[in-house]
Amino acid sequence: MDMAKKLTTNRQDAAMPGLLLGDVFPDFEANTTIGKIYFHQFLGNSWGILFSHPRDFTPVCTTELACAAKISDEFKKRDVKMIALSIDSVEDHRSWSEDVMALHPEHAGSLLPFPIIADDKRELSVLLGMLDPDEKDKDGMPLTARCVFVIGPDKRLKLSILYPATTGRNFTEILRAVDSLQLTAKKKVATPVNWKVPNHSRAIWVINHRSEREENLDLYRALERRGEIRRKKARLCLIGFTWHGDALV
Ligand code: BEZ
Repeated sequence: MDMAKKLTTNRQDAAMPGLLLGDVFPDFEANTTIGKIYFHQFLGNSWGILFSHPRDFTPVCTTELACAAKISDEFKKRDVKMIALSIDSVEDHRSWSEDVMALHPEHAGSLLPFPIIADDKRELSVLLGMLDPDEKDKDGMPLTARCVFVIGPDKRLKLSILYPATTGRNFTEILRAVDSLQLTAKKKVATPVNWKVPNHSRAIWVINHRSEREENLDLYRALERRGEIRRKKARLCLIGFTWHGDALV
């Protein structure tokens, strides 16, 4: 059976289209804790992260929002605009935000540093393929899964991670992934397992075409002399190199 057909046939809910990497993220309109937003306008020229929650005031969601608030400066440093989503009302979100901020004594009395979208009709959750069919509310309606979408300044989807409602996220890993996305958006490199800023030092230079090697022949030869070339094929070379700031050394 053709794979696309098989995937469609296996879908529990064919009305949940979802998004693919590289797709332009929908420019939706939504009510949030900071008023009505138009998503692309909200993002401006920044990167963005949208993360969804099954429900307000639930224990796992509350720890996640508190963690996201605690490290919000790290997202700001990377020019990533944060926005959360849950399927309750703006009023509930405002009161939940206060609870969340009270969780860390140093934040008590401060405002949640990012807005929360009120998706009380679950319209966005359906549009973005975020419903978790295994978790239902008391009325039998599916809750939102824990989705993470990272959107680039070109408004295209750069990363998506989908956790079920019962598994809380690791925001440190999400920041690490953002670092990789931002590096690989600027440089023609790939980052290896567990790669991390600032103590990473090594990224991987991916050369897809012989012409790219020819254009960087001096560097290629220098790396070859140092035994830095990991794998060579006629059409694809993966090369390790040392990375300091913006320079190849
Ligand atoms: C929670 O956030 O605690 C939660 C929400 C939905 C299902 C399970 C846990």
